[in-house]
Amino acid sequence: MTTTLDRPGHSVRDHMTPSRYRISRTRQDTRDTFTVVLEPVDGPMLHYKAGQFTMLDAFGVGEVPISISGDPTRPGPLEHTIRDVGAVTHALIAAPRGAVLGVRGPYGTSWDVADGEGGDVVVVAGGIGLAPLRPALMEIVAHRERYGRVVLLYGARTPEDILFGDELRSWARDRGVVVEVTVDNGQHAWRGKVGLVTNLVPRAGFDPHATLALVCGPEVMMRSAAQALVARGVPGDRVRLSLERSMKCGVGLCGHCQIRELFACVDGPVLGYDRLAPLLSIREL
Ligand SMILES: Cc1cc2nc3c(=O)[nH]c(=O)nc-3n(C[C@H](O)[C@H](O)[C@H](O)COP(=O)(O)OP(=O)(O)OC[C@H]3O[C@@H](n4cnc5c(N)ncnc54)[C@H](O)[C@@H]3O)c2cc1C
Ligand code: FES
Repeated sequence: MTTTLDRPGHSVRDHMTPSRYRISRTRQDTRDTFTVVLEPVDGPMLHYKAGQFTMLDAFGVGEVPISISGDPTRPGPLEHTIRDVGAVTHALIAAPRGAVLGVRGPYGTSWDVADGEGGDVVVVAGGIGLAPLRPALMEIVAHRERYGRVVLLYGARTPEDILFGDELRSWARDRGVVVEVTVDNGQHAWRGKVGLVTNLVPRAGFDPHATLALVCGPEVMMRSAAQALVARGVPGDRVRLSLERSMKCGVGLCGHCQIRELFACVDGPVLGYDRLAPLLSIREL
């Protein structure tokens, strides 16, 4: 494990002191999920890689890790797509326009989508897991000609929970991305697929021996998706998962995110299935 503090010229204080960002806009994506757009109060826009996260501080309430969900190819306001599940996420999505939040980061490993150039890319997302994958998809569609088949398999709870619907349609229509959406519960005139997203893997059109697979969602879904991808013939080290563990420091100091020898905040969150497979059955510590 290498901590983020090993970067030359950075002290603990540098890493633990948040920068001040102002909310320029909050967009409601679904009934419980919102995208918060932030601009630095002072200082430059943040550069980041697809898959990295920040520690977002709702001052006085608490600090949580949230993946950056914006476009890494076009530095601009910082986007985070947040599901309202508890005290801190609620404070973040409910803060008014103009409110100031703390931001530390970007932290962690990235999807490294360029490793998929020259071959096919399969993205498997479950629920809010599409948010950490959105920057990877944006990077791929920005350089679409560098990739073969690009397939997005996305599972949501209900049709109302589908995130980024306009983008999914435009990637399919204009950028040659095969988008397959399935829902757990398909009432309300839904004419699409119903069932687990992992059920879409066996029939998806990609060459398993020349594929990079990116997976994010609930841990049980990631485990099944990774198993299905490996069963299709995708090598374990070409299947990447984004690991969610509760975090406190985000920089490899507190041990809160530790699973055996791995610290999810600095060794992850994006890790190869070859390294994660033995650890995925271990419950959060
Ligand atoms: C690297 C990383 C990236 C993340 N990216 C996003 C993101 O892009 N969007 C987003 O909405 N959330 C993301 N999360 C999850 C987010 O950090 C948690 O939802 C948040 O910490 C909950 O805090 P809370 O105070 O609002 O709720 P709490 O009261 O702390 O928790 C409410 C519920 O959420 C569950 N929960 C708490 N933390 C986590 C966690 N880390 N993973 C899964 N379940 C959790 C709890 O078990 C509980 O059931 C990410 C987590 C990590 C580690
Ligand atoms: S969150 Fe503190 S070590 Fe990972």
